[in-house]
Amino acid sequence: MEGFHELLARVQQEIVCLQFPFPPKSLYDPIEYVLSMGGKRLRPVLTLMSCNLFTDDLEDAIRPALGLEVFHNFTLLHDDLMDKADKRRNKSTVHKVWNANTAILSGDAMLIAAYRLIGETKPEFLKEVLDLFTVTALQICGGQQYDMEFESRMDVSVDEYMEMIRLKTGVLLACALKIGAIIGGASAKDAENLYQFGIQIGLAFQLQDDLLDVYGDTAIFGKSIGGDILCNKKTFLLINALKRSNEQQRENLQNWIEKKIFDPNEKISAVTHLYDELCLRELSESKIRECCNQAMNYLSRVDVTTDRKVCLEDLSSRLMNRNS
Ligand code: IPE
Ligand code: IPE
Ligand code: MG
Ligand code: MG
Ligand code: MG
Repeated sequence: MEGFHELLARVQQEIVCLQFPFPPKSLYDPIEYVLSMGGKRLRPVLTLMSCNLFTDDLEDAIRPALGLEVFHNFTLLHDDLMDKADKRRNKSTVHKVWNANTAILSGDAMLIAAYRLIGETKPEFLKEVLDLFTVTALQICGGQQYDMEFESRMDVSVDEYMEMIRLKTGVLLACALKIGAIIGGASAKDAENLYQFGIQIGLAFQLQDDLLDVYGDTAIFGKSIGGDILCNKKTFLLINALKRSNEQQRENLQNWIEKKIFDPNEKISAVTHLYDELCLRELSESKIRECCNQAMNYLSRVDVTTDRKVCLEDLSSRLMNRNS
């Protein structure tokens, strides 16, 4: 069995070797830029870890794992454009360094490159893996569409939010784990339990991302703090702020949400202050723990010896306490 650092090193080494069919260089430069910026490489590592539960030979899982990382990076190019985000992994985002059209088209090329890598899956698993990946990619588009629509809605419920983050974030982590399991030769039941484990880890991961967007440290998180507040993103924090505020707090919050012209820092600090007053950080942390416990339940049902699962357990708890 391989540990987290070995698997991560393997992924890094393989990503550096990815080749893109120049010319035109201008289409592929942004792809190399975003792929060389680092990131946690969580999805490919999850694929390899999941595969490693069932076999010590990870070779067949490498190309599809890379495909998932390229796909994830594609979603980031489009997401940063949609979210008007200027910073990622402590660097300027692609649409800032180049322009919106570049982020769209280089992103499209990455989606196609991702399909090509996933298409290198061994024939015996190819159909199942491709079907899962295709459904997942469409679900993510659905999640992103809800995320955008929720910006202008004031009545988003916690349940709607949880479904939106399941789609935009959870399903890709789940898909990464299930693809690893399929290629590792897992039973359908084990593959499904790993999928559900991934959904719960994904929910916790996005809840934590929303928290870090308010309470994180830019230098460590690598993204600008307060972006969600500026876009009126209906995060777990904002939904609960609208639910729990008294009349005066709600009026104040509503004003900030409706304002068209304002000083961004002033809005961020006013909304953060309200979150503090309502103890929403603690509420979020307890929801994260709930998802994590659910995740562990699913993992415990996977029929391999406990020692093989330690790696996934450790990674999950590290993710929940992450600050980057
Ligand atoms: C960012 O994902 C998008 C979310 C789902 C929150 P990551 O936090 O995994 O981004 P990188 O790849 O490590 O930069
Ligand atoms: C990202 O959600 C989900 C996808 C990219 C599909 P966010 O918009 O919260 O991710 P960050 O914070 O920009 O990384
Ligand atoms: Mg974003
Ligand atoms: Mg987004
Ligand atoms: Mg975010």
